[in-house]
Amino acid sequence: MQARRLLLLLLALPLAVHPDPGSEERLEAMAAPGPRVLIIGAGISGIAAAEKLHRHGLQNTQILEATGRTGGRIRSQRFAKGLVEIGAQWIHGPSQGNPVFRLAAQFGLLVPDALLEENQRINVGGHPSAIPVIYSSSGTKLSPDAFANITRLFYSWLEETKNFTGGGCTPEDSVGSFIRQKIVQSSPDWDKELADINMAFLRGLLNLECCVSGTHSMDYVALCPFGEYTTLPGLDCTFPKGYESLVNQMKAPLPGGSVLLNKAVQSIHWNGSFPGEDSHIYPVKVTCEDGDSFVADHVIVTVPLGFLKKRSSDFFSPPLPPSKTQAIKNLGFGTNNKILLEFEKPFWDPNTTVIQLVWEGDSPLTAPKKDLKKNWMRKLSVFVVLEPPEQLGHVLCGFLAGEESEFMETLTDEEILSSMTDLFRRLTGDPELPPPIGIVRSQWHSQPYTGGSYSYVAVGSSGIDVENLAEPLPTDQEALKPMQVLFAGEATERNFYSTTHGALMSGWREAQRLIDRYPECWANVSKAKL
Ligand SMILES: Cc1cc2nc3c(=O)[nH]c(=O)nc-3n(C[C@H](O)[C@H](O)[C@H](O)COP(=O)(O)OP(=O)(O)OC[C@H]3O[C@@H](n4cnc5c(N)ncnc54)[C@H](O)[C@@H]3O)c2cc1C
Ligand SMILES: *[C@@H]1O[C@H](CO)[C@@H](O)[C@H](O)[C@H]1NC(C)=O
Ligand SMILES: *[C@@H]1O[C@H](CO)[C@@H](O)[C@H](O)[C@H]1NC(C)=O
Ligand SMILES: *[C@@H]1O[C@H](CO)[C@@H](O)[C@H](O)[C@H]1NC(C)=O
Ligand SMILES: *[C@@H]1O[C@H](CO)[C@@H](O)[C@H](O)[C@H]1NC(C)=O
Ligand SMILES: *[C@@H]1O[C@H](CO)[C@@H](O)[C@H](O)[C@H]1NC(C)=O
Repeated sequence: MQARRLLLLLLALPLAVHPDPGSEERLEAMAAPGPRVLIIGAGISGIAAAEKLHRHGLQNTQILEATGRTGGRIRSQRFAKGLVEIGAQWIHGPSQGNPVFRLAAQFGLLVPDALLEENQRINVGGHPSAIPVIYSSSGTKLSPDAFANITRLFYSWLEETKNFTGGGCTPEDSVGSFIRQKIVQSSPDWDKELADINMAFLRGLLNLECCVSGTHSMDYVALCPFGEYTTLPGLDCTFPKGYESLVNQMKAPLPGGSVLLNKAVQSIHWNGSFPGEDSHIYPVKVTCEDGDSFVADHVIVTVPLGFLKKRSSDFFSPPLPPSKTQAIKNLGFGTNNKILLEFEKPFWDPNTTVIQLVWEGDSPLTAPKKDLKKNWMRKLSVFVVLEPPEQLGHVLCGFLAGEESEFMETLTDEEILSSMTDLFRRLTGDPELPPPIGIVRSQWHSQPYTGGSYSYVAVGSSGIDVENLAEPLPTDQEALKPMQVLFAGEATERNFYSTTHGALMSGWREAQRLIDRYPECWANVSKAKL
């Protein structure tokens, strides 16, 4: 054990510099001491890992990013009179236990209200707290009071799902089937006249929950592990200068050339012996779509689960062990998209924060209508009014999950704009309502290096799959060169998947594995820096 460890330390000695006039960037990184670490993906998990390694003296680190930008699923864009978020929007649970909140506060990126102690203590358990304005598909405004009880019931059922982490459910049970069972039990107590509209309203709440979980149907989301997802206290807040301002601050300390953009990795060869330009033998070689290749002691893979689902069979050589291929297959990764609409003038009352839709005739007990071309809009159940209108203009953000959302991605902006004009005319009962003056929508499913929005624990999988996904390769504890391939990213955090803080924690987690392995690299780094 000791001898092997010593050997590893020797292998990790600083690399010799061989001038390579073609690649100054690579030269700079190779001149740095410590093991050679490659990070695949410049989303928040990859940037977090790189920054933490750098801070701990493991400076021989580079990020390879497939697209032309950093941030991944954090993406802020100019729209209307300001900035909107195409990906992540809120800090979910902004309080001291949330590293995204801590960093954002430290960098001065939040409004003063978000920093208040009382704001950090508010606990909404991940459920919406605003009072909505409710429109029915037949063009009537409905009173939120009429649905207050059924809303409370729905969220109490969702809370109840947390009781199954200890047992009392089977692996086949889904959150959807549990909620349906509750609806069937509860509906005999409802006012007969309200039964249909209550059902339609509940379908909308379930559709919203599909957006939260990033799934086509809550019937796909496993019941037993659902409660393992952990919400943090704090009233969700946003970034006035865009979520990307966080990523930009995080990557600022990295030396120039640390991030190589437009460097899509094609395959990762591990468990091998690949000579570097320094004649040192490395266990891993990464080849890119453009023909470039890189050798490394360690590779941290942060690509989205959606990418792994499409590509993992030919991405790794030798192939992944069964525990990992099973985890990649079993875990869920679905689509949640946004449709952002700018209006010249708001048709909603001032102080409206959320507009909720009730599609009359729909029910949580029947399958959604099949013809997507005709019915994709019926999956829309919530539009959020973006703040502050004085700076941004009048912008609504609709959320749409599942197959309907993937269908929407195939439509043109003009087609969507025309559908949305029809929709709002129908809801408001105003056939003259002016169309939105601008539209932008996300297309996360079609992004080749993302393949959807975020992960969930699907029926047939469990938290163990999340742990298996996070386990480094080789899994053999006695391997001569351990931790050749490490895995980070949103989908590898058992309690915080699908969030920016989960992604950030996962990057730090994998960086820490390597930091623990190479204490000599940070022994002399000043404590103040760490
Ligand atoms: C619509 C939407 C709304 C969301 N809202 C919120 C929210 O309000 N709050 C919240 O906390 N979270 C939210 N999320 C989730 C959050 O955005 C993600 O969990 C988080 O950003 C994921 O970070 P990551 O580093 O794991 O992955 P990513 O950000 O996806 O980074 C992975 C990177 O890997 C790159 N890559 C992929 N394949 C390759 C390859 N072969 N070679 C090189 N590079 C590759 C990708 O291009 C990408 O840049 C939302 C997500 C979406 C899509
Ligand atoms: C909601 O529930 C309360 C108490 O349970 C009841 O008094 C009230 O009438 C209900 N409201 C509606 C609209 O059903
Ligand atoms: C969970 O179970 C406990 C103990 O059985 C019970 O007291 C509690 O009400 C349950 N919670 C929910 C939300 O049903
Ligand atoms: C890794 O290489 C060793 C030695 O060449 C071999 O015995 C082992 O089976 C390989 N492992 C995998 C997963 O390919
Ligand atoms: C909006 O909210 C403000 C502050 O809470 C209040 O003074 C005002 O009357 C509200 N306006 C409407 C139309 O409800
Ligand atoms: C760390 O500092 C000590 C004492 O100054 C020195 O002897 C040692 O060589 C340094 N180690 C590294 C890896 O720089």
